[in-house]
Formats: sequence, C-alpha cells, structure tokens
Amino acid sequence: MQSPDLTSILDLTPEDIERILDTALAMKRDGAAPVLQGRTLALIFEKPSLRTRVSFEIAMTNLGGRATHLEAHQVQMGDREPTADVARVLSRMVHGIAARTFEHQTVLDLARWADIPVINALSDVEHPCQALADLLTLREHLGSLRGVRLAYVGDGNNVARSLAYASMMSGVDFVCASPGGFELTAGDIERARALPGGGSVTLTSVPTEAVAGASAVYTDVWTSMGQEHEADDRREHFAGFQVNAELLARAPGALVMHDLPAHRGEEITAEALESERSVVFDQAENRVFAQQAVLSMLLAEGLA
Ligand code: CP
Ligand code: NVA
Repeated sequence: MQSPDLTSILDLTPEDIERILDTALAMKRDGAAPVLQGRTLALIFEKPSLRTRVSFEIAMTNLGGRATHLEAHQVQMGDREPTADVARVLSRMVHGIAARTFEHQTVLDLARWADIPVINALSDVEHPCQALADLLTLREHLGSLRGVRLAYVGDGNNVARSLAYASMMSGVDFVCASPGGFELTAGDIERARALPGGGSVTLTSVPTEAVAGASAVYTDVWTSMGQEHEADDRREHFAGFQVNAELLARAPGALVMHDLPAHRGEEITAEALESERSVVFDQAENRVFAQQAVLSMLLAEGLA
C-alpha cells in the first residue's frame, strides 16, 4: 500500500482498494494464514463500539496476532499526556494502533508521531474501515462494483464521506441525498471528484431522485456519536429522509444497507432493516475480513 497508515480512504489508491477487497474475499473463502504471529495491535476507543472493536480483535486473532484494548479514559490522549507521547510510547511496544476518536486531528497526530501503522477506527470526519466492508458487501452481492449506483440517504457525515471517496475509486456512482445544511461539503465533493477510479459523486436534496435506479440504498444515523445534544433539531431537519417501504418502492430490488447501530423509526424503519433486501449483517460480518486484509497489508508487509 502506498501509505503506512489508514487515517482516511484517501490514503489508498484504487489499486490498494481492489487488492484489499480481493484479499478480504480470498480470506473469507479460504481462511487466513497466521502472518501476524507475534504482532500486537493497540485499540484506543474514545467512543463506544461493538462491531469495530470486536472485528479488530477477531481479525488480529485470525491472523495469528493479538489485540490489546486500552481504556481511553485511562490513556486520556492529549490530556494525561500529549498524543505525540502516546504514539511514541506505543511504537516501542506494539506493531499498530487502531483509534476511534472524537477529533480527526487526534488520528492524524497519532500517525504523525507513531513509527507504526495507525488505522482510523472512526473519527468525526471518516470511517474508512466501514467503507471497505461496505464495498466488500456490494461486491459479494452484485459481483462487480463498476457502474453500480449506490444511493445514500441521510447525513453527510463520516460514513458518507468515506463512502463517497471509496466509491469514486471503485467505479461506483454514489448519489447522496441530504437535507440542506447536512450535505457533504463543497471541499469533500471537490476532493472526491479529483480521485481516479472511474466513479462519480452526485448530491441531491431529494431522496426519491437519489434512489431511482439504485442497486443499493444506504443510510446511517441522523445523530452521530458526540452530537447527541443536536438530536431533536436533527429529527426535524431529517423528516422525509427516512428509508422506508415508500422510498424503497422507488428502487425495486435494491439492497438495503446500514453500518449499524440503527435507530429504527428514525433514519430507517424496522420493516426496511429486517426486509429480505437488507444486507446490514453481512456488512457487519465483513468488517472482520476487510480489516484482516488491511492489517495483513499494513502490519506484515516489508517485515521479515
Ligand atoms: N458500524 C460501526 O462502526 O459500529 P460500531 O460503532 O459498533 O463499531
Ligand atoms: N455516523 C455514526 C457512525 C457509527 C458507526 C457515528 O459517527 O456515530
């Protein structure tokens, strides 16, 4: 891989992404070799997690290594000691860091100071590991990514941003429907459109426009972790952006996607989430395999 870290999907090239997906699919089919024997990944999570934490732990175990979970309230990055010191200390003890942080800058600071790979396990700006598992899920269900229309309905948040970049680099046509004030930014779109890979990114404020002709309809929570004080306000702004039977009727046969956890009755109905078209638990399962591929490339490559 061109970058020693995965702080953003932008650390990857289209070739990196294709290789990650190929490797993940092969590992899912054939099992993983113990290429990370004797290697340790440190996990630091400033926000709650089920899928990301467990999938990193299982992925390390499957690769013959181990993960050690550090309590964020004990490490207190930037508070008990500078993030730069945390990065340099961990670099002397472990072989990689996966960090879930409130501020994206904390992930960048870790990467700047660590001598070992740093992986973004979700920040306020991006969720690259989720996007890789999502592409893997699309590839499994649709065969190929090129020309797939992926409609995202909801907040222009960390999940949407990583998906937009990943789509551009995978030949996916990403159409994002968000209410005014909650769109991906002009800077996000400019960065996305400058990427190679043959995909496209389009914004709209009309969910029915986004889902027309889509192969998959994706949504995420309206209120992300750390924004809880905005929840009431957001519920008002996002009314009309729910993934439900009426919206899905405009996208016959489309897969239903959600990174989870879901708020049933807000961004998605229970009926849509539980429908036969829903692949949300495949997405969750694929976190293990996408991360196995990333870890095997970042932590094992170039080492004796
Ligand atoms: N989708 C996802 O990242 O889930 P967790 O917050 O449970 O890790
Ligand atoms: N956008 C959500 C994703 C959770 C996995 C959040 O940041 O809380």
